[in-house]
Formats: sequence, C-alpha cells, structure tokens
Amino acid sequence: MSILEGSRFQSYVYAYPHKTAYRPIEPALPLGPLWAAERRDALFLYFHIPFCEQRCGFCNLFTQPVPHDDRVEAYLGALERQVGVVRRALDEGGAFTIARAAIGGGTPTLLDARQLERLFAMCRTMGYAPGTPLSVETSPETALPDRLAVLVGNGADRISIGVQSFVDAEVKAVNRPQQVADVHRALRAIRDAGPAILNLDLMYGLPGQTAASWQGSLASALEYRPEELYLYPLYVRPLTTLGKKQVEAVDRHRVELYEAARETLRGAGYRQVSLRMFRRANAPSASGPVYCCQADGMIGLGCGARSYTRGVHYSSEWAVGARGVRGIIDRYIARTDDEFAVAAYGFVLDAAEQRRRWLILSLLSDEGLDLAGYRARFGGDPVADIPALAELAPRGLAVHEADTLRLTAEGLARADAIGPWLFSEPVQRLMADYELT
Ligand SMILES: C[S@@+](CC[C@H](N)C(=O)[O-])C[C@H]1O[C@@H](n2cnc3c(N)ncnc32)[C@H](O)[C@@H]1O
Ligand code: SF4
Repeated sequence: MSILEGSRFQSYVYAYPHKTAYRPIEPALPLGPLWAAERRDALFLYFHIPFCEQRCGFCNLFTQPVPHDDRVEAYLGALERQVGVVRRALDEGGAFTIARAAIGGGTPTLLDARQLERLFAMCRTMGYAPGTPLSVETSPETALPDRLAVLVGNGADRISIGVQSFVDAEVKAVNRPQQVADVHRALRAIRDAGPAILNLDLMYGLPGQTAASWQGSLASALEYRPEELYLYPLYVRPLTTLGKKQVEAVDRHRVELYEAARETLRGAGYRQVSLRMFRRANAPSASGPVYCCQADGMIGLGCGARSYTRGVHYSSEWAVGARGVRGIIDRYIARTDDEFAVAAYGFVLDAAEQRRRWLILSLLSDEGLDLAGYRARFGGDPVADIPALAELAPRGLAVHEADTLRLTAEGLARADAIGPWLFSEPVQRLMADYELT
C-alpha cells in the first residue's frame, strides 16, 4: 500500500524496535560484558515509576493505579537493589558518563518528597552529577510545592506535566478526574519552583473536543509560556478503557485539530520540532553534552524501563491490563540480584536492524537523515538498504537538503505512518504475533 493511503495515525515511533517485538532472550545476557562493549561517554539514565493516581482511559503505558504505600516502598527497595547491581555491572567496563537523565512513568511525583529524595540518591549512585540535564514527569494533582522543590533542588532542569485538556468534561470522559483549578495551581507551582524548562502535554481528538475547546486549551497553555509543548493525537489502544468501550479516534477530527494547532503555535512563536513537539523560539535549550537518541546507550532502571545498547534492547515484560501489570511488578520486586544482573527479555539487533533503527530515528527527528553520516557509520547506502526511502521525496514527504533527507511539513504530519512503514518484516511479524495482556 502507498504511504499516502490509509490512516496517518498508525503509531508513535519513539523507539525501534517496538516493545511488542521483544521476546525472552535465551540464554540471558550478563550486563557487565554487554555494557563494557558500548560507547560509554554519553549515556542516558532513565528511571521508571510505574504508579499513577488513576488509569486514564486512553493510556497503555506501563503503570499501576492507586498503589498502596507499602507497595511503593517495596518497589523502591527493589529499585535500590537493581541500582546496586547495575552500577557494579557498569563498573566492570571502567569509566562512564551520564550525559542526560529522565524520570518518567507513570507519574514519578506520586512519590512523596521523602521517597523522591530516595530516588535522587539512586540517581547519584548511578553516576548522575548535578548540572547534567534531567527531566521529570509530573501530573496536575501531584505537582505539589514540596515535591517540586525536591526535583529542582536535585538538579531537574525540565519538568513535563500531562494536562491533556483544560476542559474538565473532556478529561472526565477519558477517566481522568482532574479539575482545571488543579491544573492552574500545578502550573503556577512549577513556575514558582525554579527556572526549569516547562513542557506541557495536550491531547487532540478527545471525545467531545471541538475546534473551539481545543483552541481554548491551547490558549490556556500558552498563558504559561511553556518552553515546550507536546501535542498528542488521541490513540485508542487495546485493553485501555477507551479500547474496551470501542471509542473511535476519528482521523478527520485529529487532522483538523492538528492543523489548527500548528497555525496557532506558529503564530505564538513556536517552532515545530516533530509531529508532537513544539518549542518556543527563544526558549533556552537544554545544556550539557548532547545525547543522540539514535546512537547512544540508555540505561533504564525500574519495572517497565527499557535499556538500549547498540546490539541489545531489553526491559521487563509489558502489559496494559491491571492483573498483568501487577504480576510483572510483583515479579520485579521479587527478583534476585542475579536476575537483575542479566538481560533476559528484549530484542537482539543484528547489523541490518541497527542500521534501520538509526535511519528511522534520524529521519523522524528534526536533524533529518544524514546520508553521508549513514555511509560513514555503516558503509552502505541508505536507499540501497531500505528502497522504500526513495518513495518519500517524489511524494512530497521529504526533501534532500545537501546530504540530508528531511521530512517536509506534510511528512512531519504523517510521521506516525512513515515510521511504521519503515519497520523490517521480521519486526512487523513479531509485533503482529505479540499477545497483549
Ligand atoms: C507519562 S504521561 C505524562 C505524565 C503523567 N502521567 C500525566 O499523565 O499527567 C505521558 C503522556 O503521553 C500521552 N499519552 C499517553 N497515552 C496516549 C494515547 N493513547 N494517545 C495519545 N496520547 C497519549 C499523554 O499526553 C500523557 O501526558
Ligand atoms: S496518562 Fe499519565 S496519569 Fe494517566 S495512566 Fe497514563 S501515565 Fe498515568
């Protein structure tokens, strides 16, 4: 099928291969030798907190709603053990540098101030040094001043909050009992907490959302002059509440709201970086050494976090349904140190998949696909390796600028179709065979 046919909303490709292509790795791979073979001067450190105040109707991220406090404490205990084991494994290969860090979820600020301090101690054990860029996710009800003070005091220079909509009825319709007054309180608290970059997530295509209510949400967001805005098209995924209710995300609705938002944000001085991301033109950019998502390693800690080396991506298992998520977290908490010391579930990338990953992530980023860089790095020609690439420019989806292939505005708008269209056949087969629980 041509890339211009079919829905442009196929899937959000922020990683390749997708986690539904992961399988048990047998025999499991010891982390020491795995990381010793990596470039280690610009690693990304990621912590996952798989807990939330509720399970939003659209969300298929790895998270358990309303955990008991004992559960959170047990989780942090297991995370501390994992940190000790992984740090020792990394040390086997000598020195390494954390160039960037992020704490995500779920909702990391579901942790109270004391638990967050415990988490930052783990960050430091993993080699995170204050002054290194660090991003943390939060939500309107949990962005409380004492918690934000812990984040900023420990070096967070970017705080990302999920708002989705400034209309109470629209969030309520997707099982998010958030009040707009809480959203404003949280946004003021983030601004008062310090000079961190503010990112705000909004969603379009929500049931009941109109062109006018969408513009209202954008205008409310812009009052805070966020340095970054992520606009997410609604996806209705299996096993989510919206999925079970067979709610439909309508293409035309999403396209219209996307195009309107693009105009509004352009007029407000924002530059579009990707399909979802918009950055304020004069906003300070992140400091520190540049981490390159398509080239560098990522050390993921916690249940639900993924880790990427050049040749192996690994994580815990994934589920969306409540029982499945609980079971995976139970097994994580019960893991022995020996189990933490190996990669047992994931995807082993051969040379062709490594090239494909680099190519897809580069093309979908604002850097574009550096064709000369590809040849220098891998020795082959990108179009010879992936002939489908040659279709993009004639269809107006990409342009050649010097030796870079870059998505056009039309290409950016269709990034969620272009990404999956470039997946390899083996990865597509694994994804199709995956049984979600
Ligand atoms: C980890 S959450 C952000 C922090 C926090 N948990 C919250 O929701 O406030 C990640 C973001 O992904 C987006 N998202 C998640 N599932 C989505 C879906 N099915 N369709 C569109 N966007 C989605 C939402 O905008 C959400 O804010
Ligand atoms: S959108 Fe955020 S708060 Fe809602 S379930 Fe997903 S991770 Fe949790």
